[in-house]
This record gives sequence, C-alpha cells and structure tokens, in this order.
Amino acid sequence: MKILVTGGVGFIGSHTVVELQKEGFEVVIIDDLSNSSVKVLDGIAAITGKTPIFEKLDLREKSKVQDFFIKHQDIAGVIHFAASKAVGESVEKPLLYYENNLGTLVYLLQELSKKDRASFIFSSSCTVYGQADKMPITEGAPVKEAESPYGNTKQMGEEIIRDTCRVTPSLNAIALRYFNPMGAHPSGEIGELPIGVPQNLVPFITQTGIGLREELSVFGDDYPTVDGTCIRDYIHVVDLAKAHVAALQRLLNDKNKENYEVFNLGTGKGSSVLEVIQSFERVSGKKLNYKIVDKREGDITSAYADTLKANEVLGWKAESTLDEAMKSAWEWEQKIRK
Ligand code: WQD
Repeated sequence: MKILVTGGVGFIGSHTVVELQKEGFEVVIIDDLSNSSVKVLDGIAAITGKTPIFEKLDLREKSKVQDFFIKHQDIAGVIHFAASKAVGESVEKPLLYYENNLGTLVYLLQELSKKDRASFIFSSSCTVYGQADKMPITEGAPVKEAESPYGNTKQMGEEIIRDTCRVTPSLNAIALRYFNPMGAHPSGEIGELPIGVPQNLVPFITQTGIGLREELSVFGDDYPTVDGTCIRDYIHVVDLAKAHVAALQRLLNDKNKENYEVFNLGTGKGSSVLEVIQSFERVSGKKLNYKIVDKREGDITSAYADTLKANEVLGWKAESTLDEAMKSAWEWEQKIRK
C-alpha cells in the first residue's frame, strides 16, 4: 500500500518513513528541501534497506499537486508534515505561514476528496492549547487564542480538516497534537538537523555540550513550577513516529468510527528545563554551561499530555524515558560533528 509523506526528509517525517517502511508500506516523499537535506534519504535507506520514492515539489503550486496525484493514483493515504514551524518567524511573516501551511493543506484535501476512499494524518501541535488550565492536558481541553500565526495555522488546519471530513464521508482523518519531540534514531543514521541557531531546547543543549555554542540561556527561573523553569512533555521522535503508524492503521482498518479524530502525543510526564539539563549531564557525563536569563516572549509555564486516549484507542504508548531520548540526541550530535 502506497503512502505519501509530505515533509518526509524532515526530522519527524524521516523517522516516520522508517517506521512505515518497517511495517511494509511503500512510501512516496514530497519535500521542497527548504528545511532539510536530500541526503536524509540515504539515512533512511541505511536503516531499512529501501530508498523511498522522492519528488522535490513545492506544495504551494496547485497544478504540481494535481499532476502528482494523477501520476500516483494508487496513494491510499497522506501523512502531512510539510509546513513552516518557526514560531518567531511566523510573527514576522504571517502571510508566508498562512500560504505555506494552509494553502498547501487545502490543495492536498482537494485531491484526496476526489478519491473513493482516503486517509489523512495531520501534524498538529500542543500549541493549540496555549496555557491549558489543567494538567495533564486532555484532547477535550479548550483550544485557546493562538499565541502566534504558526500556532494559528495548526488550529485553522484542524478546523479545515474537520469541516472537510463533515461533508466528505470518503475522507478519514486524524490530527496528532505533538508535545515536544526530541532525540534521534538509535542507528545514528537520521536525527534532527536544525539550520542555524536552534530555537528548541534540546538541540541547543547538545550543541552547547559539543562546544558549538558557548552556553545555554535558560529563559526564566521564576515560573510557578517545581524549580522555577518551564515544564514540557519531551517525547522520543521514534515513539512519535510509531504513533503515526498506529494512527494510519486505525484509519485504514477501523471502519465504524468518526471520520475525524484528534490525539495528544506525549509521554504523559512533565520535565522542567533544569531537569532536561540534568538529564543531559547524566547521559553525557559533562557539566553543561548555562545561565539564567529573562523569560522568552510567548512561553507558557507548563504543558504535558494526558495520553489515555492514544493509549486506549490507538493502542500506542511512548516507551522511551527522558534519559534514553537525551542519550540518542547526544550520540547523534557527536556523530554529525565528527
Ligand atoms: C522548551 C522549553 C523554553 C530554548 C516549540 C513550539 C511547539 C513545537 C515545539 C513545533 C521552554 C526553554 C528553549 C533555549 C530555553 N514546535 N528554552 N532556552 O517552546 O515548548 O515548543 O517547539 O511543533 O509548537 O512552540 O519548545 O524547545 O523551544 O522550549 O530555556 O535556548 O525550553 O523557554 O520552556 P516549546 P522549545
């Protein structure tokens, strides 16, 4: 069975392609290579022995999307990762985010709506909850006013899919709300490749550990938390990838269900920034150079997932601990800097 993975040479996309191939799916990747390298295909092939079909394509070009689906009539489903995802950049360039994250989504859904039956998985984010009132966060928690155009594209993206599914019984969709992905494939063949100065905590920690960065700035230590630093739910990217396969199998096999569902993907455990630093120091045996600075605009205090729905309905549960995920991230950092 052929599955299209958009953004499939990106961080989460490439790890998901590996898990799909391991389950026997034939994978076609579309990527515009704006935030990743085609060399990632070699990493995927090194792990699974199979090089996915790859087409470099900008999903903003509607005619190209239509041509693609004419060429690949046998696509049974789409896992849609391709999107711009830098929160800060989205504030500066909102129209780039609305065009790239939503225009492309509409074109994909238009093509899938023409098929007798199609499955669609949307890469969403816990950012839709903003600062949730209650921890852990369930899928029923209210979606709050987006803190950024990036977050808004995730909220609007979910609504576009929901409204389309309502009038398209042949379309079967799931939105997966990721908490904080981290780590790398244990083989060391694929991992996170942030371009420029990393915005996210874990790559900044490992780059500081390897000496690429002078020191980590911890954005605030007077939040109302166990040690004053923000709490997040850090999930191993391989666990996250496996959840996509579980979601796809539900779409392909479970007929009598709602044709649009939402799942939180996290470990269910919250970790503070200082606890993540301590994890790095445990797995690396190195002292991390960091300083406490002012809070970062837009950061929320705490977010970690209630994972019961994904556990029970998808039959999926995150397996890796924070240290195991951090160890994979650190090994990857050392490998790519060799
Ligand atoms: C985590 C914690 C920072 C960097 C973002 C997006 C979210 C998703 C994941 C795409 C926070 C602190 C960070 C640093 C720090 N992206 N931090 N120093 O902000 O939870 O989520 O990435 O889907 O949508 O919003 O992740 O890794 O940036 O920050 O102290 O140099 O680490 O304040 O508390 P975040 P993050």
